[in-house]
Amino acid sequence: MAIKKVGVLGCGLMGSGIAQVAAQAGYDTVVVEVEQKFLDRGMAGIDKSLGKFVEKGKLSAADKSSCLSRLKGSTSLGELAQCDIVIEAITENPQVKKETYTAIDSIVKKDAIFASNTSSLTITELSMATARPKQFVGLHFFNPVPMMKLVEVVRTILTTDDAFKTAFEFAKSLGKEPVACRDNSGFIVNRLLVPYILDAIRAYEEGVGSIEDIDKAMQLGCGYPMGPFTLLDFVGLDTTYYISLVMFEEYREKRFASPPLLRKMVLAGRFGRKSGGGFYDYAGEKPVPFDRTV
Ligand code: NAI
Repeated sequence: MAIKKVGVLGCGLMGSGIAQVAAQAGYDTVVVEVEQKFLDRGMAGIDKSLGKFVEKGKLSAADKSSCLSRLKGSTSLGELAQCDIVIEAITENPQVKKETYTAIDSIVKKDAIFASNTSSLTITELSMATARPKQFVGLHFFNPVPMMKLVEVVRTILTTDDAFKTAFEFAKSLGKEPVACRDNSGFIVNRLLVPYILDAIRAYEEGVGSIEDIDKAMQLGCGYPMGPFTLLDFVGLDTTYYISLVMFEEYREKRFASPPLLRKMVLAGRFGRKSGGGFYDYAGEKPVPFDRTV
């Protein structure tokens, strides 16, 4: 099946990035939000991001305007009717996602593919809220979408080969590097990454090393671009905590269980960079570790 028109649900952090890369790749793209103010914020973000590409000489001003001319924002689900693929990137709430899928199922043409950008929910469960589970995949992009190359393309036990191949080729056509994954909680990246960052917290709780030294060790010893606590503050401690709950529920293995300190940090409102501090404080010029090991 040839994809010509792309629909994106949600114009937040991820949805705006996905809509941007689809329009940049030449697709006629429509992005739908619940409220005009969220749409305006997302579209302004896209304009700014494209502007940065122009400043760096990676995109011409003419290409920027033709990209924007292919992109339409709307608050009406009806705009998705003629899309060949609809990628959902709305709030990570299974109930809201399922209700939205049920609502668009009767609107969007029958042969269109549905994709979810969910980080932690089961694609199978979301797909069953529609009458088209065979044409349902996960397309898991990474933040920031215009910069990050990887897309995990997730198939359930019901996804047809055709739908999977179409979604995989579509990801390639966006200039991304897709990988094939089964519908297991966390897919590939979070399945490996989440136990690692949870274990870093456990190591700190056990007094193996300080926050700064654990970060330094993993950066210099493993060649990682940043240590686990710096990464946690970027991802968000609340998000990590939520993902660990979902993954523990699925696997019932200790490595996915949240360490007590993570829950306490979340209860204390220390969500990471977005709240001004997590495992580090960001008020000063340099991040200062939040060491509280009595
Ligand atoms: P966000 O909160 O920035 O954006 C979500 C947007 O969806 C909001 O603007 C909200 O107004 C909108 N929305 C809510 N209900 C809607 C509906 N019924 N119709 C249309 N729009 C609706 O969230 P973010 O970070 O963009 O996450 C979106 C999805 O992407 C989640 O499933 C998340 O798990 C996933 N994801 C997030 C990553 C991240 O680094 N933030 C990375 C990869 C996946």
